[in-house]
Amino acid sequence: MIKGMKTGVAAVLGTGLVFSLSFAAAPSVDAAKKLYDSKCASCHGKDGKGNAAMSKAFKVSPAALNLVDEETVAKKDEELLKIIGEGKNKMPAYAKQLKAEEQKLVLQYARGLAEKKTENKMEKK
Ligand code: HEC
Repeated sequence: MIKGMKTGVAAVLGTGLVFSLSFAAAPSVDAAKKLYDSKCASCHGKDGKGNAAMSKAFKVSPAALNLVDEETVAKKDEELLKIIGEGKNKMPAYAKQLKAEEQKLVLQYARGLAEKKTENKMEKK
C-alpha cells in the first residue's frame, strides 16, 4: 500500500497532464488550490491572470503578474521554481514557507490554469 502511494505521488509530481486529468478529485489538487488561493492569488489572481489592483499598488505591469500568458508558459519549470523559491523584485521568496514539493504543486496548479486559458488559442494553430 505504501509502495502504491509513493508511485501515486511520483505520478502527480511528474506529469502535469496526468495530474490534472486523472487526479482531479484527489486531495492533492485541493491542497494545491488551497495553497495557491491563500498564498498566490492575492497578487496573481485566482485565475492566474494577475490582480489589477496589485499591479497598480506595486507599480508592476499587469503582464508581470500574469502567470497564464504565453511568456510565462514558455518558461521552464526550473526557472519559475527559482523565482517562487528565491523571489524576484516584488515577488516574495517562498523557500521558507513552502516545501520544495509544495512549490512544485502550486506551479503545477498555475500551469493548469494556463492550460484552461490557452486551450482555444492552441486549437487555432
Ligand atoms: C505580494 C505579491 C505576490 C505574491 C503573494 C506572489 N507573487 Fe509571484 N510575482 C509577483 C510579482 C510582482 C512578480 C513579477 C516579478 C518580476 O518579474 O519583476 C511575480 C512573478 C512570479 C513568477 C514568474 C513569472 C514569470 O513570467 O517569470 C511566478 C512563477 C510566480 N510569481 C509565482 C508565484 C506563486 C506560485 C506564488 C504563491 C506561492 C506567488 N507567485 C505569490 C508578486 C507576487
